[in-house]
Amino acid sequence: MSISEKVRQAMAEGSWIRRMFDEGAILKERYGAENVFDLSLGNPVMEPPSRFHQELKKLVKRPLPGMHRYMSNAGYPETRAAVAEFLEQETQLKFTADNIVMTCGAAGALNVVLKTILNSEDEVIIFAPYFVEYLNYIDNHGGRSRVLPTDELFLPRLDILEDSITDKTKAVIINSPNNPTGVVYNETLLNQIGKLLDQKETQYGIQIFLISDEPYRRIIYDGLKYPSPLYHHLRTIIITSHSKDLALAGERIGYIAIHPRCKQQDELVDGFIFCNRTLGYVNAPALMQHIVKYLQNVTVSITDYQKKRDFLYNNLVKMGYSLIKPQGAFYMFPRTPIEDDVAFVSELQKFKVLVVPGCGFGAPGHIRISYCVDDRTLEGSLHGFYNVAQKFGLS
Ligand SMILES: Cc1ncc(COP(=O)(O)O)c(C=O)c1O
Repeated sequence: MSISEKVRQAMAEGSWIRRMFDEGAILKERYGAENVFDLSLGNPVMEPPSRFHQELKKLVKRPLPGMHRYMSNAGYPETRAAVAEFLEQETQLKFTADNIVMTCGAAGALNVVLKTILNSEDEVIIFAPYFVEYLNYIDNHGGRSRVLPTDELFLPRLDILEDSITDKTKAVIINSPNNPTGVVYNETLLNQIGKLLDQKETQYGIQIFLISDEPYRRIIYDGLKYPSPLYHHLRTIIITSHSKDLALAGERIGYIAIHPRCKQQDELVDGFIFCNRTLGYVNAPALMQHIVKYLQNVTVSITDYQKKRDFLYNNLVKMGYSLIKPQGAFYMFPRTPIEDDVAFVSELQKFKVLVVPGCGFGAPGHIRISYCVDDRTLEGSLHGFYNVAQKFGLS
């Protein structure tokens, strides 16, 4: 057997998103890509903002000496300083370059942070529905995932959280705006979570990190200001990337930011730098670091995403689907009218509409729709959503 039992098993359980991707490829081959309405992937169709191409062209025209060499494992000081300045503007907290480590996307950042803080068998709390890779990442570093249910609005239940924290709890991962639901955690909830963590830290004499996975932080609608967990728990670690806000998912650029008032920040940052190196990332891509230092105040068009959200949400509601209006990210998570979400996904596939069953996110009885697609795909999918709604008696 050439691959390990563990990897074999993990691959067999697989990711539903990947499975849908493969099925989509077959359908596209058979019917032509233009006749398949693929809402399964969180791979934004938008191009990066024009400022990105301007900065890229400048570098091509006038390359900086040594711009492709190795650098400090934490990233370029000037890029880290630019990120810190942006975070300071956004939060009024005194971030410096020393609080920032540049990473290979949010995925790289999550792995670096988890490797840095986890002892074997430490528990990490996550909330269902969740980004499925959390399970793999926690396992990568010897931790145990503790999955907690959420309420009917997909928000953490404080009573359950309170009962679930033990002396083994090392971290709680939150993800707002959320993949797959699009919900945004408000200040009150973040404050309650922060207070609970403080209280449990005292009760057990431990440190609990609040890992805030925020790759969708800047994709937020209706003029809402992003409520940050930084105001509510000193041991907050921010993880984010430019995969979504600058549509640079393939370029693998993101960062970790540690709360500037976290007492353990020096040791933690040293740990992050060490793990960035020893996990084999070595450093975040140099070219992207040269560019994103100028783009901290730039995003793709949020208005365009909001239009897509409104179009799809209004249509699905009219058809009788039950769903919570997303306040951010580019996903929706409607309830399925039958219990079996996999069967429901297959019904949609008959109309060449591809979505992911909620069971892939630990929340069966739902589907995840990703609307970071072009308008033609969104419009084309309505026929399938309508017919399946009719079949299952929605009105
Ligand atoms: C919630 C969440 N966290 C992390 C990631 C990883 O993002 P990145 O491309 O920055 O590694 C994703 C990607 O879809 C995500 O949805």
